[in-house]
Amino acid sequence: MNFEKLSASAMYSGSSKVLSSTPALHVGTQTIETDRLILRRFKIGDAPYVFKNWASDPDNVATLTWNAHPSVSLTESLIASWVNDYSDNTDYRWCITLKGTDIPVGGIDVTNIIDDSTCEIGFVLSKSLWNKGIMTEAARAVIDYLFTKTSFTTVTAYHNIDNPASGKVLLKSGMHKTVVVLKGAKKNTGELVDKVVYEISKS
Ligand SMILES: CC(C)(COP(=O)(O)OP(=O)(O)OC[C@H]1O[C@@H](n2cnc3c(N)ncnc32)[C@H](O)[C@@H]1OP(=O)(O)O)[C@@H](O)C(=O)NCCC(=O)NCCS
Repeated sequence: MNFEKLSASAMYSGSSKVLSSTPALHVGTQTIETDRLILRRFKIGDAPYVFKNWASDPDNVATLTWNAHPSVSLTESLIASWVNDYSDNTDYRWCITLKGTDIPVGGIDVTNIIDDSTCEIGFVLSKSLWNKGIMTEAARAVIDYLFTKTSFTTVTAYHNIDNPASGKVLLKSGMHKTVVVLKGAKKNTGELVDKVVYEISKS
């Protein structure tokens, strides 16, 4: 999950390649329910939980492009910008909560709209909940949402080669590996690492 990304709309209007005469269909971020989870929009009141549950923990963000947040005020200002972005229906960013709690435990979002038919997703989960199948459940639900409610027909994702758990999530979500880009990703330390790319296409 990219906490410093441009809004999806900015990236879309700035770099999209229109490959089809059919207008793109977008519905924005709507609530998704799975067996164990509710994926919903972030709200300002989530900031202390996002900060505590993952954003402030260097271990939790070691595989990501951004650094741990030094203060909850940074988390709050980012969430404020996300809340603002929700008015754009090309913006897809969910807060992951365990059913019945409404407490944020992670996030999953469309980090990049590549063209009318293709987007990239990213995610992060609180370390306290790793290896319980939670992100696989969230990723499957988001891929299904994108294929059934929008005009995206291909979803891509990548992980750093030293982050095999993320690769497992992508495989278990139905994706397949397409390419390894040598030194294709930059860690939050600035170190360049090999990037493993996956995709899934709508059947
Ligand atoms: C990657 C991440 C989202 C996975 O979430 P999760 O809910 O724990 O994932 P799941 O439980 O659905 O699946 C994890 C799988 O990875 C496996 N795994 C965990 N650590 C592993 C390791 N070091 N090597 C190989 N496999 C590993 C688990 O065994 C599990 O596979 P299994 O179901 O076959 O046993 C979580 O670890 C995270 O938030 N990491 C930090 C942020 C991040 O890396 N985001 C992705 C950036 S691309």
